[in-house]
Amino acid sequence: MRAQFLILIEVIILLTYWSYTGFYILNDIDNHDDNGGSDGTLRFITCRFDHFSGLGNQLFRIASLYGIGQKLRRKVYFNSNLPTVRKAFLNFEQNFPNIANDAVTLVNTSLITEKVVLFGMNDRQYDNPMLIVKKTKYLKIAGNYIQSYKYFDGYQSDIKRIFTCQSTVTLDKRYVLDFHWRNEWHKKTHNLCVHTRRGDFLGIPFFRASSKQFTDPAVKTVLQTITSSNQSKVNVIYFGDDPQFVNGLYRSPQKGVKYFDMHKLQLTDVEELCFGIQNCDTVLLTATGSTFGWWLAYLHKKDGNVYYDGILSNYKVHGWNINDYVPSNWHRICADSGIAQVSHVPCPMRA
Ligand SMILES: *[C@@H]1O[C@H](CO)[C@@H](O)[C@H](O)[C@H]1NC(C)=O
Ligand SMILES: *[C@@H]1O[C@H](CO)[C@@H](O)[C@H](O)[C@H]1NC(C)=O
Repeated sequence: MRAQFLILIEVIILLTYWSYTGFYILNDIDNHDDNGGSDGTLRFITCRFDHFSGLGNQLFRIASLYGIGQKLRRKVYFNSNLPTVRKAFLNFEQNFPNIANDAVTLVNTSLITEKVVLFGMNDRQYDNPMLIVKKTKYLKIAGNYIQSYKYFDGYQSDIKRIFTCQSTVTLDKRYVLDFHWRNEWHKKTHNLCVHTRRGDFLGIPFFRASSKQFTDPAVKTVLQTITSSNQSKVNVIYFGDDPQFVNGLYRSPQKGVKYFDMHKLQLTDVEELCFGIQNCDTVLLTATGSTFGWWLAYLHKKDGNVYYDGILSNYKVHGWNINDYVPSNWHRICADSGIAQVSHVPCPMRA
């Protein structure tokens, strides 16, 4: 019911949008037009923001637009008239300076003319950007979330550079850690970061929140994989917004294995992400739909693997495709039966 309601709202927003802007559909009348570069003019690209949303959603917009922009020879711009964008930008300037310095330009859209193209309308599904043919200087795609790694596949080193944390953020983190966890932090210790998400996900029926049913067997299995490959010391670090839930998760005593809770450090979202990027060896996503967890996994610097719950949503959602959303080198885990298994085929869904 709620999902249908959300889709209805989305349709209403779109229709309203349509009546204001006069939509330019893919391959419409002037389809010999091209994008930037060939005649030397600088061209730009942005997307629709209904709500700028949390950090993970913001990073997806920047990365996807960057990748699309590279293909179309366009630079990314954001509308400086939106207070949420200005606020996020201040945050970027402090914590991810490369975003503000070279990936995204703020443009006052009251002073320019934008043309809108119907593209990226499905939140977690890839569309081919080469189908966008528009000569206009300021191009706005009507998609809002554009969350497929395929938009920036091939630019991974650019994306990692753009999303480099300001060094002070990570330095502070080391201090926080030394203080709280003292001797538990050794170079030889393998950090298994287990991302969980409950909170708002519990209120949206199709969003699959972390569950004990998935997390416990998944942690056990991944831990086994790590310890069986000569890693005798492992920190299992639980990330998550629900302390009570996290407290109830897998904590079996085992020689060399210690359990930690990130929420005890009371970090901001940026600090938590930057901490994870620096320190996680292996990442396990127990709420695969969380874009924050997704970025933790994508940006983490060390060599370890990424594991994720192979079920993205509680039921099939139009426009969500897990194979467009999750990189193919991450390891899918199916664990709904109570036993976790790494799988190369889709996980069976309970009725
Ligand atoms: C954008 O331009 C308009 C018109 O000149 C102006 O009123 C507005 O304050 C500007 N917005 C920003 C964020 O500078
Ligand atoms: C594990 O350690 C043994 C003994 O030191 C060594 O022979 C083996 O190659 C190591 N395996 C891995 C995967 O590093």
